[in-house]
Amino acid sequence: MKALLLVGGKATRLKPLSITRPKCLFPLAGKPIIDHILEGLSTASVSEAILAVNNLADKIEEHLGPEKYGIKLRYNLENEPLGTGGPIKLAEKHLHDEDFLVLNGDILSFIDYAELMNRHKEEGSIASITLKQVEDPSRYGAVRFGTKDRILEFIEKPERDAPSNWINAGCYALSPEIFEYIPTGRKVSIEREVYPGLAVKEQLYGYRYTGKWIDIGVPSDYLRADKMLSDKPTVGKGTLIGQNTKITDSIIWENTRIGTNTSIQNSVIGSHCTIGNNVKITDAVIADNVRIEDLIIIAKGTKIWPNKHIETNITSPNTEIN
Ligand code: GTP
Repeated sequence: MKALLLVGGKATRLKPLSITRPKCLFPLAGKPIIDHILEGLSTASVSEAILAVNNLADKIEEHLGPEKYGIKLRYNLENEPLGTGGPIKLAEKHLHDEDFLVLNGDILSFIDYAELMNRHKEEGSIASITLKQVEDPSRYGAVRFGTKDRILEFIEKPERDAPSNWINAGCYALSPEIFEYIPTGRKVSIEREVYPGLAVKEQLYGYRYTGKWIDIGVPSDYLRADKMLSDKPTVGKGTLIGQNTKITDSIIWENTRIGTNTSIQNSVIGSHCTIGNNVKITDAVIADNVRIEDLIIIAKGTKIWPNKHIETNITSPNTEIN
């Protein structure tokens, strides 16, 4: 079985962390999310994965190489961002001969891919979308069911009156006929331009998934995903933490130095940062190579861009230092 992984987005909602690192390489419980995804695919007999790359493509290829977890990896580079549908069309020559999987590269789940593929074949529709039930469907694509889990309507980011709270979980089984529904050579949103039309034609099946699922689209989700996987916060290799420093509900990337008596709460700190003694950081996102002096207090919601030097307190909440 082959899989296409969508990993080329700009991840604007995860700025400033995503300026230097693609979202699929954000670590979770000790390794990048893409490694968790590939490991899951390897247990479902996926032998080849196509990585649809664009933004920061070289970093992804450098990290994964030509093969990982027994899966042969191919990199399909877009000259310009093609969205969530265009990269599928671009990979047609590699995927035209049999049904295949498509996964967003920013979602962590324990979907049984082999079962999804079996159900897709049994149901005989062009696309089968994995669906997850959530409390608030407005940030996602929500569906209205017909009989036997056929999807009658697919609405991307319904502002109100969502047709159900079952949402697109970012993992699909597709048949090669899908290529007839995706235009060539331009940016295409599969959620907005392809799935609604397939629903009308009764060619969209919903595969309900009830296991663990989380996307890491925004910093709070990223922190939640890390907690879901491990009791201990992720602290990257080479990161040093001083005495009496308290790190709670936070993620610290690699090679960062944190002084003594410092408190870091509900925050993400990038790599190669230097954070002094007696510093207080709450609900903040701090990118790579930031230097924060001793005794600094960083207000809630602060975002600090790479390579900044902070020498005075940040007192207003939601400040962006860029
Ligand atoms: P935001 O800018 O914060 O919305 O993030 P994003 O750019 O990742 O967009 P979104 O969360 O909608 O993307 C869902 C999945 O599709 C992610 O795994 C992205 O990496 C991927 N993706 C989004 N746009 C593109 C693109 O133009 N090309 C490729 N190859 N993948 C994309």
